[in-house]
Amino acid sequence: MRFTFQTISLALVSLASIMSSAHAAEHVYSANNVKWKTECSACHLAYPPQLLPAESWRVMMTQLDKHFGADASLDAKTAAEISAFLQANAERNNRATTGKPSLRITETRWFKKEHDEVPARVWSSAAVKQAGNCAACHTQAERGDFSERSLRVPR
Ligand code: HEC
Ligand code: HEC
Repeated sequence: MRFTFQTISLALVSLASIMSSAHAAEHVYSANNVKWKTECSACHLAYPPQLLPAESWRVMMTQLDKHFGADASLDAKTAAEISAFLQANAERNNRATTGKPSLRITETRWFKKEHDEVPARVWSSAAVKQAGNCAACHTQAERGDFSERSLRVPR
């Protein structure tokens, strides 16, 4: 067997491109369900199921009448369908679970870590107002795209 410098560097280049596309795909979330998209985008962005563990969604979907100070109640059948969709597509690597699951994406450890470079004045600016307003910075958030490519942080 003969390894030339060229074969080795070609192999490295293709490995690097596989790794970078896997990384990019990590932040584009594509699961869809019509009821989720309709009901859960009435007051804010329909947050992708992949951003919280199944247990967080399960608990949240049993208390929609007391949803972060709002009444987001649904009929039992619709709630069950959306709950099943959220749990089936939930985050799998448990990066957010240390003890009691958070119901807020913005309070998970990964969220704080990813966003620690955003200054406080940006969070409280008129353009953003609250951390849950993902689309203020992630311009393609409606399509589940949270990649760096589509990120525009207001100044
Ligand atoms: C009646 C309006 C309303 C509806 C409908 C609604 N929400 Fe919310 N949601 C809110 C409010 C208000 C907050 C809290 C906003 C804040 O204080 O940051 C919130 C916050 C959230 C958060 C936490 C965001 C964060 O800060 O990390 C999640 C997750 C969430 N909602 C999921 C859902 C899901 C899933 C559905 C559909 C079943 C849904 N919401 C439907 C009003 C609503
Ligand atoms: C004030 C602007 C702002 C808001 C609002 C915001 N983000 Fe971000 N987000 C950023 C910045 C800046 C980064 C860091 C990008 C980097 O350095 O890799 C980031 C990174 C991310 C990443 C990792 C992306 C990657 O390619 O590494 C995800 C996922 C993400 N945000 C999700 C969310 C979600 C979900 C919300 C709403 C609940 C949200 N963000 C709200 C600015 C924001």
